[in-house]
Amino acid sequence: TDLTPIKDVYQNDFLIGNAVSAADLQGSRLDLLKLHHNVVTAENAMKPGSLQAEKGVFTFDAANALVNEALANGLQMYGHVLVWHQQSPDWMNLAADGTPLSREEALTNMQTHIQTVMENFGDKVIGWDVVNEAMNDNPPNPTNWKASLRQSNWYKSIGADYVEQAFLAAKEVVKQNGWDIKLYYNDYNTDNQNKAEAIYQMVKDINDRYAANNNGDLLIDGIGMQGHYNLNTNPDNVDSSLEKFISLGVEVSVSELDIQAGSNGVQTEEEKIAQGYLYAQLFNIYKEHADNIARVTFWGLNDANSWRASASPLVFDKDLQAKPAYDAIIDPEAFITD
Ligand code: G3I
Repeated sequence: TDLTPIKDVYQNDFLIGNAVSAADLQGSRLDLLKLHHNVVTAENAMKPGSLQAEKGVFTFDAANALVNEALANGLQMYGHVLVWHQQSPDWMNLAADGTPLSREEALTNMQTHIQTVMENFGDKVIGWDVVNEAMNDNPPNPTNWKASLRQSNWYKSIGADYVEQAFLAAKEVVKQNGWDIKLYYNDYNTDNQNKAEAIYQMVKDINDRYAANNNGDLLIDGIGMQGHYNLNTNPDNVDSSLEKFISLGVEVSVSELDIQAGSNGVQTEEEKIAQGYLYAQLFNIYKEHADNIARVTFWGLNDANSWRASASPLVFDKDLQAKPAYDAIIDPEAFITD
């Protein structure tokens, strides 16, 4: 088709990404992917449960094939995810009876996973979500970031410093190998101001202490704002959180963007327009902060394949046709004025 590539419109601003499975790297899906994007994230293939379901048995074949296929097609690759409370096997941080492992055992499991996985992919990836979703939703006392952490099995086995320990392990691998890749903290609902504040406090504390002993170098290079939004999302809140994170001196990426607007796989014309309007408002905000945004990644190519398919959250429909959201992203100002 003769559609303007989204990636070309934003070529001086930030990378445009999408989340993929192996099926997206074939045929018409691959064509659409390559036309509009320059970087991809594995939707599931690089998660702990996919790479080390059994202790010490690393299963890299599928993920390696995905990465090589992406690179062969001129797409960059982003790594997702090293440490998470979901899609991670129990053995990593729980004993057979379901109680948390000792700090020492869990820490070793976490460090081994991080090192082995990072060394496998090397600098074929431009960066990693080192820790994903460590923070509670809407924490009531966000200035106390440790009290705001999700009580995950990583937290229960290792303690509140598991986040810092994960970044220290990842940083060590980067340093040893001399790679130029970015280490990210990634989370959702970052438009919630309490959650954004707790994340800000955590990253500031960890980075300040590391910088003091490492000539100002940062331990956490970037913050990923996932961006699983809906029609009630207030773009002003997205803007405030973005500015808060940028003020830390880290780079920011929008890592998993989609906007729920419909139900049962049905989307009215009004919902399509409202969805486009919010995409336009968001891209206006992203453009304003383009100097500090590395990448904007959509979480899926088209509605039918989305993890929230029933809410038609993406830019392309089930037939891979562009929705109003596409026009909104190509020219936000014009879409808002019309
Ligand atoms: O691969 C199995 C298949 O063998 C099995 O038959 C089938 C039956 O349920 O499940 C398949 O696995 C599913 C997997 O997606 C691959 O399709 C899992 O059940 C399902 O839970 C999994 O969902 C993924 C979800 O993360 C898991 O939490 C979504 O695809 C993926 O989009 C979603 O992505 C997350 C990000 O990683 C982190 N941020 C939030 C985001 C949305 O939840």
